[in-house]
Amino acid sequence: MQDLKVVNISCEYKTNPLGIDVKKPRVSWQIESTQRGTKQLAYQYQVSLSETDFEQPLYDSGYTESEQSLHIEYTGPELESHKRYFNRVKVWNQDGLDSDWSDVAWWETAFLDQSEWQAQWITPNPSEIDQTPVFLLRKEVQLKKEIASARIYATAAGVYELSLNGEKVGEDLLAPGWTSYNKRIQYQTYDVTSQLTGSKNVIGVLLANGWYKGDLTWEDKRNIYGDKRGVTLQLHVRYQDGTEELILTDGTWKATTGPILYSELYHGETYDARLEQKGWDTIGFDDSNWKSTVVASEFPTNLVAQENNPTRVTETIFPQSVFITPAGDTVIDLGQNMVGRIRLKVEAPAGTKIVLKHAEVLDKDGNIYFGNLRSARQTVEYITKGEGMEEYAPIFTFQGFRYVKVEGYPLQNGKLPVENFVGEVIHTDMNKTGEFETSNPLVNKLQQNIVWGQRGNFVDLPTDCPQRDERLGWTGDAQVFIRTAMFNYQGGPFFTKWLRDLKADQFKDGGVPFVIPNVLPDGESSSTAWGDAAVICPWTVYLVNGDKRILAEQYESMKNWVEFIRRQGENEFLWNNGFQLGDWLALDAKENSYIGATARDLIATAFYAYSTRVLRDTAVVLEKAEDVRTYTELLGGIKQHFNLEFVSSTGRLTSQTQTAYVLSLVFDLVDGKVRDRAAFELNEHVLDNDYHLTTGFVGTPYLAFALSNNGYHETAVKLLLQDTYPSWIYSITKGATTIWEHWDSIKPDGSFWSDDMNSFNHYAYGAIGDWMYRVLAGIEMEESVPAYKRIRIQPRIGGTDFTYVSANFESMYGKIESSWNLTEEEVRLTVQIPVNTTAQVILPNANIENLQEDGRYINNVDGVLSITEAEGDVRLEVGSGTYQFIYPNEKGMKKIYTINTRLIDLLDNDQTKEILEKYSPGITRPNPTANLKVLSLKELASPGKAKIPHDGLEKLVKELNLVESVELNLS
Ligand code: BGC
Repeated sequence: MQDLKVVNISCEYKTNPLGIDVKKPRVSWQIESTQRGTKQLAYQYQVSLSETDFEQPLYDSGYTESEQSLHIEYTGPELESHKRYFNRVKVWNQDGLDSDWSDVAWWETAFLDQSEWQAQWITPNPSEIDQTPVFLLRKEVQLKKEIASARIYATAAGVYELSLNGEKVGEDLLAPGWTSYNKRIQYQTYDVTSQLTGSKNVIGVLLANGWYKGDLTWEDKRNIYGDKRGVTLQLHVRYQDGTEELILTDGTWKATTGPILYSELYHGETYDARLEQKGWDTIGFDDSNWKSTVVASEFPTNLVAQENNPTRVTETIFPQSVFITPAGDTVIDLGQNMVGRIRLKVEAPAGTKIVLKHAEVLDKDGNIYFGNLRSARQTVEYITKGEGMEEYAPIFTFQGFRYVKVEGYPLQNGKLPVENFVGEVIHTDMNKTGEFETSNPLVNKLQQNIVWGQRGNFVDLPTDCPQRDERLGWTGDAQVFIRTAMFNYQGGPFFTKWLRDLKADQFKDGGVPFVIPNVLPDGESSSTAWGDAAVICPWTVYLVNGDKRILAEQYESMKNWVEFIRRQGENEFLWNNGFQLGDWLALDAKENSYIGATARDLIATAFYAYSTRVLRDTAVVLEKAEDVRTYTELLGGIKQHFNLEFVSSTGRLTSQTQTAYVLSLVFDLVDGKVRDRAAFELNEHVLDNDYHLTTGFVGTPYLAFALSNNGYHETAVKLLLQDTYPSWIYSITKGATTIWEHWDSIKPDGSFWSDDMNSFNHYAYGAIGDWMYRVLAGIEMEESVPAYKRIRIQPRIGGTDFTYVSANFESMYGKIESSWNLTEEEVRLTVQIPVNTTAQVILPNANIENLQEDGRYINNVDGVLSITEAEGDVRLEVGSGTYQFIYPNEKGMKKIYTINTRLIDLLDNDQTKEILEKYSPGITRPNPTANLKVLSLKELASPGKAKIPHDGLEKLVKELNLVESVELNLS
């Protein structure tokens, strides 16, 4: 049996991409084998113009000895536009065994040189351009012969949807997506071979305002990129006899308006079905009263092929309930704060107007709440034509909502027939890559909320929120969340596109706008932690996917950002001036301020150091020796000045905030004793707050890392599990189904933070997901060998409330899994390592003698390359394969867990309180019971910090009847 198989060939991250303009496309593949420890020794890669004939390939790498299986760049003869290139791969493993040829995959080029684009931009007649309704454009097309294949290449100034002979073309929504239109605009490619029928065909286009000229930003600015809508389109027909024909947009196309009277991204859509022009996009329709379009020149010129995955409906959700609010509104509850639209069915007399108003939450009285939408109306109106059952979903708008207020819908037996409504979830259709689950349902809910936050805000670009009058590509938010995002979904194409816009919109001086594409007023300055997206985002894509090209493409932009900072501060090593957003929304902010207490120059200098480090590391990857030297030196200087300026000689920071300590630790700005002190102070800070955080956008993503990686993992876990305000789980106790913008978007008393800035779907605080995958589950990588070529499985087992944590991640090489399970008796760890990678597996509190894998003692296990014991852990080097490790839980990891939770569980009981008070003299904190509630026994009895004397602790545990015999293992 052939055991070696090449699967999942992708090109530029996509399976069989149609319409690319990459001149040297990169191909990646995965390998399957049931044999452990499999690696690729060599590959052979061929490209052919024929799907079946590889006898005379266009390109043949020949037998190439290399482990590389990701991003193999095509180096054959120059590609031509509008051609399909087929490819296949075979590989050899370390023993010289070869696979069969893979299945054939392909890519197809669009315009490799944009000067080949011939179609003109057309716009509806000038008398019509200021109209609000969505335009219909049409063109009858005569084809002369039998067709072999046909493609449409199209884009629009606005958002558009195509139809051919009355049928929608493709499934994309909101094409051409949002780019920095004045610098670059994407076109889409559609295979319409099967939609063309006979010689006569009609191309139809619906054309709305979208991001190009519709309302954007809280100032409701219009016409940001231009004041006319336009379309440019080419239909390429290849006849069976080999000849070709092009049909292009020109002034012979006709346009008018139709049933969509209004459509705006923020505000919704108004559709009057009585105005439908039946058959407008089919043959034989009389368009004599439509106006001619005009050819216009003021449209974007830099056309690029679609880079991102398209935006699509990815799921439908059926309403959970319908109810009447205290204010008397009829409201549908989807049960999930989602982004997309409602599809409805209705049968009613002509002219019946149904109004849907979308909102995210109910207020504390149970009424639907629109306040936080600010000026975004999120209102969809449908007016019936009265011809039986009608179906409608808005096309050029999307809403962020869980609740829908329904007005005007004809009731049946006094009730709203809720089965006629369905929610359609819309976002960039990325491949799902990650799954995370634990023994704690609240944490699982948090993971789901993070994923929903990502789905709702990855609508063609990374946005801050999907509901109010923003929905903008805020750089800080994207930077904060990207690593988590890249666990949940394959974000390669998504961030490649967005980063090209970042580069395009970067200010001349290297500053980075707050939002990308930049639609905020000129002259806006740059802020730390926002502008750093220019450096952090490409680096993250590189780390996760091994994508060197994104580093090469963005390198100048990364460098310009660091050089920009270098020119800012009072000396080249500090950034201590200018406008800064600071630790945005941190809880230590002054009354009425959005900006947390951590000194802004400390944050700015810390991020300056971090970006410089990443830039230096990028220079290493790109082999730019001179820059490696320059930025290593610069980094040294920044670190030194950071210490001079912000750290006392005994290791206190000038800002005594969680965020300050977090940044100094995770950005590696403090060493030795100062570092220990910083970690200690951070932990104390969290303890002093009864295990609550105070961090905002800047500190939150790194907080748990700073604790776990500096000796305070249990504190990090308690922060995660904290369910009182402020915490991640708190929002879940208040019914959150997504991540909120503020820790107190809904306050403990049920009131709202404020109308002015209160999104219930903001992904930034979802950045904890990164730590959940990397630390709790322990799926980590060796950064010097990106893309998880060298994996580290290092789960944190025991000492916490979890009895199992399970995560898997579809890396570029294939699936990685780390799942652990803890009982009183044993520890089990399931690990999956993809072919062509290796892993170090660290089994905590294990020893070699009784560690087994699938029933065998560890020193006799296939795939295990080396075994060492260090610091109470067993460390294994393993090759690819799936492993089931089991070892006895000798070190009592569970015991700590049991005692802790039961102590917490019992607290509300009077008898317990009494017993606790009896032992309280040893407790140094003001409120003994409150503190006991949150301190683990380990902390209570740790030397130097004893809150209860050790013997007292033992008695206490016994008296509480927690365990039969007390054998405290406090290590
Ligand atoms: C956005 C944030 C953003 C911030 C910065 C807000 O309005 O929603 O997420 O990063 O502004 O000013």
